Amino acid sequence: MNGSPILSVKGVTKRFGGLVAVNDMSFDVNNHELVGVIGPNGSGKTTMLNMISGAFKPSTGRISMKGRRLSEMPAQKIAREGIGRTFQLVRLLPGLNVLENVKAGAVFGYRRRWGREADDFAHEMLERVGLDTSYDAPVSALTYIDQKRVELARVLAGEPKVLLLDEWLAGLNPTELGTGIELINALRDEGRTIVMVEHVMDAIRSLCDRCVVMASGSKIAEGTPGDVLSDREVIRAYLGDDNA
Ligand SMILES: Nc1ncnc2c1ncn2[C@@H]1O[C@H](COP(=O)(O)OP(=O)(O)OP(=O)(O)O)[C@@H](O)[C@H]1O
Ligand SMILES: [Mg+2]
Repeated sequence: MNGSPILSVKGVTKRFGGLVAVNDMSFDVNNHELVGVIGPNGSGKTTMLNMISGAFKPSTGRISMKGRRLSEMPAQKIAREGIGRTFQLVRLLPGLNVLENVKAGAVFGYRRRWGREADDFAHEMLERVGLDTSYDAPVSALTYIDQKRVELARVLAGEPKVLLLDEWLAGLNPTELGTGIELINALRDEGRTIVMVEHVMDAIRSLCDRCVVMASGSKIAEGTPGDVLSDREVIRAYLGDDNA
């Protein structure tokens, strides 16, 4: 649909002791595509992202980007290859201010920048995510959505080829949610490739080109949001879940 696959997940399983958190998952992500990874709580979505970003190694299976095997690489190398991510619970460097947090992304990301260039790019990314607070504020002084913005700016500052968002919209109030959806939509319009784990159905419907649906670690459906959200097995998987 949108060109050749940039990211490919093939037969990936992750076991934690006796628990199979991700079970034989396979899917592709095409260049410039926004793919939603959805499913009930505990279905393995974050574990899937953790394997793509290298936080966990798959027990079996292969993850590759443009033919290069990420699943053999340490997390730092994977970031340098062009995978950038945000975390389900915002992770910032609390001892650093807003600008320093974003600069860290510019210095350690895919496309590395140093000194003045890192500074300028960090400012640019903070503007990009709509953060107009003072750049030398401690991150602990920010509201939750602003902390999320800083984290997103930090990831964008590394100019990732593939952006992984783990429930970036969770915890936002209705007004913030609208702003958040607009922001992700704008990133998509820039032609970025995004894998988004999300529970917010409005966001899934309006943003995703394609969805991969997980339940109990396995892929149970894949297709357009309209198709998967009306799929019987998907509806059954969500039943009893607050977000159904
Ligand atoms: N580091 C770990 N050690 C042991 N079990 C884990 C670990 N990480 C995740 N799990 C287990 O793997 C399963 C999948 O968890 P995961 O966090 O991937 O789900 P999720 O789909 O992201 O859920 P949610 O929507 O609640 O964020 C759960 O049963 C979880 O308890
Ligand atoms: Mg999760």
